[in-house]
Amino acid sequence: MLVLSGITVRYGPREVLRGVDVTVPRGEFLAVLGANGCGKSTLLRAAAGLEPVAEGTVTVDGRAGDPLALAMVFQQIHLVHRRTVLDNVCAGALGRLPLRHSLHPRLFPRELREEAMACLDRVGLADRAHDRADRLSGGQQQRVAVARALCQRPEVILADEPVSALDPAASEQVLALLTELAHQEGLAVVAVLHQPVLAARHADRVIGLRDGRVLLDGPPDQNLDILYQPALAESVS
Ligand SMILES: Nc1ncnc2c1ncn2[C@@H]1O[C@H](COP(=O)(O)OP(=O)(O)OP(=O)(O)O)[C@@H](O)[C@H]1O
Ligand SMILES: [Mg+2]
Repeated sequence: MLVLSGITVRYGPREVLRGVDVTVPRGEFLAVLGANGCGKSTLLRAAAGLEPVAEGTVTVDGRAGDPLALAMVFQQIHLVHRRTVLDNVCAGALGRLPLRHSLHPRLFPRELREEAMACLDRVGLADRAHDRADRLSGGQQQRVAVARALCQRPEVILADEPVSALDPAASEQVLALLTELAHQEGLAVVAVLHQPVLAARHADRVIGLRDGRVLLDGPPDQNLDILYQPALAESVS
């Protein structure tokens, strides 16, 4: 279970997250929605330990400070294009391997390559393992990025707009995959989405952020318009 408690992030005098509380049980796919600039990416980065928090705590199954428990997936996929798909997935394990393995991919141990193959199989791309990463389509590359995250053996996957660059069919595939990882593998999955209709179709629950706060938290098929309406009196809040 991922527990974010009282997360506050400031940039200088500006408070971009204001005491955010979110709990995500294992087995759940939570979608995070909200207008541009409301703090969604900052929340994910804070959860992953990539963003210093002014106040608040992050725990995974009761433990604090275990960055390997959380794996990130991004809109910009960040594969190493000239390396094979398999090497890219193996790289997901670098955080838990001795440093020398990062120097040359041939040093990836055989057990790791087998585990990476299993992760690729999980995302339906085992047959592309030996292709160069840049030979794959965007949707396939995003599934490789999910496989790379799995190779980290995380308990939580944090995905920031994982489908914003994908066409509708590829988006469906990636979101269905994230749902499966939650429901079948028991991961806690958190994904920032910009399309309420995709959240309604795939997520178990949504939270809506507005101006650095959780404005709504509940079933994915609720009316989310309030998140995107201009503020009536922002200065009063
Ligand atoms: N490194 C930074 N320094 C200063 N301000 C920042 C920094 N990163 C983000 N912000 C500000 O924090 C606020 C929240 O940004 P964040 O990227 O979390 O928004 P978001 O909800 O992910 O938006 P989008 O939908 O556009 O991706 C914004 O006002 C942004 O300008
Ligand atoms: Mg963002």
